[in-house]
Amino acid sequence: MKFQKVNTLKGEVTIPGDKSISHRAVMFGSLAEGLTEVTNFLQGADCLSTIDAFRKMGIEIENTPEKILIHGRGLHGLKEPSSVLDMGNSGTTTRLISGILAGQTFASTLTGDASIQKRPMRRIMEPLSMMGGKIVSLNGNDCAPLQITGSPLHGIHYHSRVASAQVKSAVLLAGLYAEGETLVTEPSLSRNHTEIMLRAFGAKLSSEDKTARIYPEPRLQGQKIHVPGDISSAAYFIAAGLLVPGAEILIKNVGINPTRDGILKVAKEMGGNITLLNENYDGEPTADLLVKHSQLHGIVMEGDLIPTLIDELPVINVMAACAEGTTVIRDAAELKVKESNRIDVMVQYLSAMGCDITGTDDGMIIVGGRPLHGTVVDSHMDHRIAMSFAIASLVAEGDTEIKGSDVVTISYPGFYADLARLHH
Ligand code: S3P
Repeated sequence: MKFQKVNTLKGEVTIPGDKSISHRAVMFGSLAEGLTEVTNFLQGADCLSTIDAFRKMGIEIENTPEKILIHGRGLHGLKEPSSVLDMGNSGTTTRLISGILAGQTFASTLTGDASIQKRPMRRIMEPLSMMGGKIVSLNGNDCAPLQITGSPLHGIHYHSRVASAQVKSAVLLAGLYAEGETLVTEPSLSRNHTEIMLRAFGAKLSSEDKTARIYPEPRLQGQKIHVPGDISSAAYFIAAGLLVPGAEILIKNVGINPTRDGILKVAKEMGGNITLLNENYDGEPTADLLVKHSQLHGIVMEGDLIPTLIDELPVINVMAACAEGTTVIRDAAELKVKESNRIDVMVQYLSAMGCDITGTDDGMIIVGGRPLHGTVVDSHMDHRIAMSFAIASLVAEGDTEIKGSDVVTISYPGFYADLARLHH
């Protein structure tokens, strides 16, 4: 697909449902008793992989345009799948479901696309094995396909080396089936949607600072869940609104959970004009964001801030490329093991567009302010790479061609249409 520089952007966009929260709603609804009703569910390919997997384990899930209805069968109601479970491109499905499958009374095999078969799974295999789980990487490379033989589990206190909500959630979900309590301590707090939603379903779960603790065998009760808009999807419109001259965009229905709102902090620190409207703190907090074109300046991003904006870093790189001065990103080595190596890919194509960017072991250094020009970008089948370069193209001279642009269906099927509606 080809993209061109725009004159300006104006109007409103309503952000589709949060990917992380949509996955969890299906998983926890399947393990709960009774009906779970989910509105504003993200109909992205990743979340559909989660639905497919639970259907294969005997859960009836109705997917209608208005809502998802999950007919949960309780903590011990899953059935042995008759075929391999296909995770598609979804790391969240793969890692979280592994925690659930480890504590079942049946065996299962998980696989996924080429990217999933390269994502590191040792990070969940290690703690789940410590709990008594039996997980084998069938190719012996610590990646999927994984064979999981359900077994009795016991609680542990796991000190994770990475700040990863996927690792934390896998261990907490296994903890539902373990004997005794299970604790996870992480180096920096990662997104806490599992903790919030599991508690709402009735799990005995507490969190203090960077440690979450869960007790086994709760009775989970079906819930009504309204999924807030995904701040990771809103990020592209935040960047577009800040970068395009004269732009003014109202971004509606954005989840602003403090474990996810790093992009708002960073955008403001860089000099961005963003106003929060209609803030709502009932459950997962939400707001509308009014974003206006701003002259940005470079900053340093590191430490505990990084997990709160990890998925937004590719588009934050684009903001930094257009900012005055130097931006330094540290402590973000996790970027190397996302859907693509996001340090290498961002450095390769932002350089090709004329940006002064250097990759480091755990981030990048960007000397902003040079004019960008169009180029040919390969998405590396990474949705966030495709969307980030679609935003860069809005301020680049000449054509930008994105190969593999369709990959946005993973997290935001209507992305290009929503962006096109703002063109003026
Ligand atoms: C997610 C956690 C993050 C994030 C991913 C979704 C989740 O991954 O990058 O897009 O829903 O738990 P890590 O836990 O590997 O950091």
